[in-house]
Amino acid sequence: MNIRTVGVVGAGQMGNGIAHVFAVAGYDVVLCDISEDQLARARATVEKNLARQVARERISGADRDAALARIRTTTDITRAGPTDLVIEAATERESVKQEIFATLAPHLGADTILTTNTSSISITRLATRTDRPERFMGFHFMNPVPVMQLVELIRGIATDQATYETLLGVVETLGKTAASAEDFPAFIVNRILMPMINEAVYTLYEGVGNVRSIDEALKLGANHPMGPLELADFIGLDTCLAIMNVLHDGLADTKYRPCPLLTKYVEAGWLGRKTKRGFYDYR
Ligand code: CAA
Repeated sequence: MNIRTVGVVGAGQMGNGIAHVFAVAGYDVVLCDISEDQLARARATVEKNLARQVARERISGADRDAALARIRTTTDITRAGPTDLVIEAATERESVKQEIFATLAPHLGADTILTTNTSSISITRLATRTDRPERFMGFHFMNPVPVMQLVELIRGIATDQATYETLLGVVETLGKTAASAEDFPAFIVNRILMPMINEAVYTLYEGVGNVRSIDEALKLGANHPMGPLELADFIGLDTCLAIMNVLHDGLADTKYRPCPLLTKYVEAGWLGRKTKRGFYDYR
């Protein structure tokens, strides 16, 4: 199937990055969110990140202008429906995603491929809440989307081969690399990354190190671009906790138990950079 138009539902940090890379690659993008403010912030972020790419001579000024002109924003999420490819990039909560699929269902084109950017939730289960399990897949981008090379592709039990191959082709047009993962809790990246982050929080909780020493240790001792606590703040502590809960519930193994300190931070509303407070203070 030839994909030309893309609907992105959710204009948070993943949604705006996804809209950005599709627009740069020449796709027409409909970016939807229930909040006008979120859409305005998303457009400002895309503008800032495109300007950064122009400054580093990754793209030209004309490419930036063309990409911006390809992104339409709307608070009416049903407008994403008639596109060739819909990418749901809303909050990592199953009930929110299900509600979006139900709202979109009557508005989807007959051949539209429906995907979710979930970082951990079962694709097979989410597919059952749509009218098209054979044309439904996990399409998982990494943050920051314009920079990170990887996209995880996750087939649900009913996903057909044509859908998978179409998305493989799409990833190539974005200049990114696909890794295919089977549909098990948190797939590949977060199955490995989140227990490391959770362990870093335990290391803090147990007083083995402090925030700075833990991050320095992994940056300088293991060549990670960001320390695990800084990365957790960057991803969002609520997202980290949600993924640990999916691993804990889905694999029923105590090794995935979320650190109580992570839970406490989330309960306090200290979610990392987005709330200006997490393991670091950004105020
Ligand atoms: N948009 C566009 N370009 C950006 C950008 C953005 N948001 N952020 C950084 N860049 C670009 C910079 O312009 C720069 O470009 P050049 O190479 O052309 O010079 C490059 O990225 C490096 O940026 P900086 O020099 O400003 O900063 P840095 O070297 O410290 O890198 C970083 C920043 C890329 C974020 C790096 O710290 C990093 O890779 N961190 C780890 C990120 C990571 O692990 N992400 C995965 C999270 S897990 C996930 O997303 C899955 C999930 O489901 C939770």
